Amino acid sequence: MKNAVTFIAVAVAFTALTAFTFQGSNEYIGSKSCKACHSNKKMGGTAYKTWSKGPHAKAFKTLQTAEADKIAKEAGHSTKAAETDACLSCHVTGMLEKGAKFGKKFKKEEGVGCEACHGPASKYKTKHAKDVEGAAKLGLKSPTGKDAEALCVTCHNEKSPTYKKFDFAKRMKEIDHSK
Ligand code: HEC
Ligand code: HEC
Ligand code: HEC
Ligand code: HEC
Repeated sequence: MKNAVTFIAVAVAFTALTAFTFQGSNEYIGSKSCKACHSNKKMGGTAYKTWSKGPHAKAFKTLQTAEADKIAKEAGHSTKAAETDACLSCHVTGMLEKGAKFGKKFKKEEGVGCEACHGPASKYKTKHAKDVEGAAKLGLKSPTGKDAEALCVTCHNEKSPTYKKFDFAKRMKEIDHSK
């Protein structure tokens, strides 16, 4: 009898825990998950193509250069730039966020990916194609104006060892992928 009660108690606790984990976790799943639809004018537009040729897609590769290692060393780090958390924080999606979760397909090599600006996508990925408003509740973000600028300056700021003054309107045009 006692065993049965313990069993039920454990089962209930386990169910509650998995339900909680399921609801609570929105994972970063990587930019490749956006490619199929966002490479096609008739589906979600050509954002993927524009991004993949832009500066953010190569942000991790930049850390694998001799120039980056030199900057890391000068900043007092003893590890290579691509292995230094203080560099990865702005050069890879999700690294600035405490407690962020990453799915199996996520690759740091993708640098600053779609989800760095549009939010971790495991929950909205399928849903938003048909219901953009509903997807906002699942974590889809698409900031404009001042909100977009606030997002950019979480990385484009003086903590960047190579900081260049950030002119939002001008820089936004350089990464425009709305067509
Ligand atoms: C199954 C196809 C499909 C996949 C996969 C997909 N999208 Fe989309 N996405 C769409 C379509 C279609 C729209 C246009 C929806 C509309 O305007 O009604 C859209 C719209 C968007 C928008 C604009 C939302 C707005 O406010 O207008 C963003 C941002 C976006 N997608 C990001 C992503 C990201 C990031 C990924 C990868 C994690 C992704 N999408 C994967 C089909 C897809
Ligand atoms: C998660 C951090 C992060 C966010 C958020 C971010 N960026 Fe960047 N951005 C970078 C990094 C890192 C680079 C350097 C990439 C490289 O050269 O390898 C970069 C480079 C750029 C460049 C290339 C020119 C330059 O300054 O070297 C432009 C333009 C740019 N970002 C625009 C934007 C805009 C506009 C926003 C906001 C909508 C934004 N970024 C948000 C991290 C970020
Ligand atoms: C550096 C931040 C950043 C990255 C990286 C980024 N986006 Fe965006 N994206 C934005 C912002 C900001 C807007 C809103 C622009 C506006 O309308 O002013 C936007 C707009 C969009 C839109 C809506 C266009 C429209 O007006 O209907 C889609 C779709 C989209 N992004 C998809 C993607 C996909 C897919 C990726 C990755 C392949 C991606 N974005 C990467 C910041 C980003
Ligand atoms: C606060 C965010 C942030 C941190 C932390 C950061 N970077 Fe960057 N990094 C950026 C941004 C944004 C850019 C684009 C140029 C700019 O405005 O700084 C960039 C560009 C670069 C570039 C390209 C230089 C150029 O002029 O195009 C190199 C190399 C680089 N970073 C190396 C590093 C190294 C090494 C570290 C760690 C010691 C580091 N970064 C830490 C945000 C950051």
